[in-house]
Amino acid sequence: MILVLHGPNLNLLGGREPEVYGRTTYEELTRLITGWGEELGVRVENRQSNHEGDLVDWIQGAHREGFWGIAVNPGALTHYSYAILDAIRAQPLPVVEVHLSNIYAREPFRAHSVTAPAARGVISGLGPLGYRYALHYLVTLNSR
Ligand code: DQA
Repeated sequence: MILVLHGPNLNLLGGREPEVYGRTTYEELTRLITGWGEELGVRVENRQSNHEGDLVDWIQGAHREGFWGIAVNPGALTHYSYAILDAIRAQPLPVVEVHLSNIYAREPFRAHSVTAPAARGVISGLGPLGYRYALHYLVTLNSR
């Protein structure tokens, strides 16, 4: 079971800066992710919050809840949330950080992720497909 977390403003996908994030809505994105999970034979749960503490709570509790991997797009929290960094470090599950846009090709402040050092790896700039590759990686890791 994989937990996919979506941070602040990702609920607005589809209408939010479509030239950067595309026209896929949050609803459509979660349906795509769930479908990719089904293809891989794994149950996926999507959760979105605009609040840092929710993300921290979900990361902290994921192992206890029975998940064995996490994909997280922390949104703008990527760039300044030491709380998310610490939460990832404080728990045992492998975490993949995903960004829809290429954070290295945008404003300079986006090129630094404070959360990435705690993640197994980062996928950035591949749009919704990034989540598919993150799921693939986590499933592969889990079946070794
Ligand atoms: C994002 C990139 C962040 O810089 C931004 O604040 C987001 C979305 C992405 O998916 O490309 O909210 O994480």
